[in-house]
Amino acid sequence: MTGARITGWGTALPDKVLSNVDLESMMDTSDEWIRERTGISERRIGGLTSTLAIEAGQQAIERAGVDPASVDLLILATSSADQIMPATGPTVQNELGLNCGAFDLNAACSGFVYGLINGFGMAAIGYERVLVIGSDILTSYLDFDDRGTAILFGDGAGAVMLEPAETTTLLGSDLGSDGSTRHLLYIDHGGHLKMKGKEVFRHAVRAMVDSCQKSLDQAGLHPDDIAVIVPHQANIRILDSACAKLGIPIEKAAKVLDRTGNTSAGSVPLALADALAKDWIKPGDNVLFTGFGAGMTWGSAIIRWDA
Ligand code: UT7
Repeated sequence: MTGARITGWGTALPDKVLSNVDLESMMDTSDEWIRERTGISERRIGGLTSTLAIEAGQQAIERAGVDPASVDLLILATSSADQIMPATGPTVQNELGLNCGAFDLNAACSGFVYGLINGFGMAAIGYERVLVIGSDILTSYLDFDDRGTAILFGDGAGAVMLEPAETTTLLGSDLGSDGSTRHLLYIDHGGHLKMKGKEVFRHAVRAMVDSCQKSLDQAGLHPDDIAVIVPHQANIRILDSACAKLGIPIEKAAKVLDRTGNTSAGSVPLALADALAKDWIKPGDNVLFTGFGAGMTWGSAIIRWDA
């Protein structure tokens, strides 16, 4: 079995900014309500899942310093593929000049955490360079007459490159799903995103806390051993509540949602890149990733940083 570590990362956000103040002129809401109830001030909108994924993937390849032709696998986490068929992964593979298998993975907002854990699994059986990208453009599915959802989401992407390591840096992981709650958050073919926000909130906190605890137990770590938690960016109150229940100070949480809103599969790698840009993560640090989303799905992974 081969170990793996993250050697590169990248992000992409559309140029167009949609602020809370812009939303005030589109629906019955206020900048104050959105900031207080969600922690979001603005979000970026536009682009395609493929174009954002290509930009983020390109950066991860360059930062890792690898030859695109040497990448062995592309995993694209998304729930807003460019088309129903084909998957968007092969489009991204082609544009990046990769010579490898590529597929889409749909676990909604948990997609990047699912992709990351799958990437480590593929590395373990010999895929030496695995590019994991999370990219979504959920704003194109929003009903801008529905203030319960339209204020929350933004578009964006993030990527990481996995390469061989002497021992794996994945210390613990957990994935979960519960299809009996699929009615809480969904998009029908040709329809808009629908959500029962309060119920998603409750499930999200419980699922992330339980999942993180399982990963901590598997890794033999205590919450105090976590240097940085990189959670799915959905609502600052969800982050506050999950961190409090886990016993991890909120100051250790990577946060970009004030600027990005909920970018679904893009959110965890966008938050990771922000924490790295701020020099929060040092070699040897234990980094806890966690996400939840439609399905419901959830997951967590602890990585010892070795980039
Ligand atoms: O990746 C997973 C994605 N989903 C999530 O993470 C969603 C999780 N849920 C949430 O983030 C929150 O439930 C929301 C932000 C969606 C809603 O916040 P809330 O605190 O649960 O609000 P609420 O639905 O209980 O509504 C409270 C009040 C209501 O007014 P009344 O009945 O008390 O008079 C709503 O009508 O706030 C009102 N309201 C708004 N007011 C201004 C709801 N949305 C808005 C709005 N602007 N955008």
